[in-house]
Amino acid sequence: MSANQLTTADVAAFYDRTNELLTRYFGGSMHYGYWDGPNDAATFAEASVRFTDMMIATLRAGAARQILDVGCGTGRPTIQLARSTGAQVVGVSISAHDVELATELAAAEGMTDQVSFRQADAMELPFPAGSFDAAWAFESLGHVPDRSQVLAEIARVLRPGGRLALSDAFERVPVEEEIRTDFDGVMAAWRAVDLVDRATYERIVTEAGFTLDALTDVSDHIVYSYPRIFRSLMHDRDTEPDFPEELADLAAAYEKMAPHSRATVASSGYLTIGAARTG
Ligand SMILES: C[S@@+](CC[C@H](N)C(=O)[O-])C[C@H]1O[C@@H](n2cnc3c(N)ncnc32)[C@H](O)[C@@H]1O
Repeated sequence: MSANQLTTADVAAFYDRTNELLTRYFGGSMHYGYWDGPNDAATFAEASVRFTDMMIATLRAGAARQILDVGCGTGRPTIQLARSTGAQVVGVSISAHDVELATELAAAEGMTDQVSFRQADAMELPFPAGSFDAAWAFESLGHVPDRSQVLAEIARVLRPGGRLALSDAFERVPVEEEIRTDFDGVMAAWRAVDLVDRATYERIVTEAGFTLDALTDVSDHIVYSYPRIFRSLMHDRDTEPDFPEELADLAAAYEKMAPHSRATVASSGYLTIGAARTG
């Protein structure tokens, strides 16, 4: 879906209706897992916690006291970040149901004095300039109508020198023309905007006011997430009584894409970035 067709209201409605099942499919979070290779026997939950630990290392939050989680999902990575850093962490999501589930999880985990969640649009963050020492956007920038605007908003709410970590899909090799329609179908079903390439990513992060210190292509590690998610979708489509229409559409889009999976995987890159706010 091209950025001008996607609205934050679509994204909010999508997560409101699918987040419980997606959180189950993704092993407790709503981001991909990280596997060492085909013989790595980690479960999705283990691979997800491992990837969160890697993002915490990329963030290099140091003595940060206040951290912002942009697009926090159902809260599991937010809590892991808070536990690991000892900082106060605020998670924001466009989905009201994300905020409800994340708040319940924080209560169940005894973390309400250290983490809090609120509904907000990353395109217009409801915080004064310089409020945070660090921020991350863990697999959330692929859903926003304008990545540059969100990066500028994050730069605004960080103090000078504040740290940023992000992870997102990127276009590793150009999408082949013959798979373009089916590829776009999967992206639209995910309520995702167009991918950008690695050079564009570096440029927009820099232009938003950050100095990059790490950009890592982790495509070959997160790729083991895809068949697991596909299997969960197919299983639940046949067995789950109230399987949401949005996930039925996603399953159908993946089925169309399946014969071209090699080309899809070639194009669907995934990167992590670590950076500091300049100035
Ligand atoms: C793929 S999930 C990742 C969730 C979480 N970061 C994790 O790692 O589990 C994307 C998240 O971004 C949120 N999101 C998408 N667009 C947003 C926006 N404009 N403002 C705030 N949150 C947004 C979604 O509601 C969802 O929670």
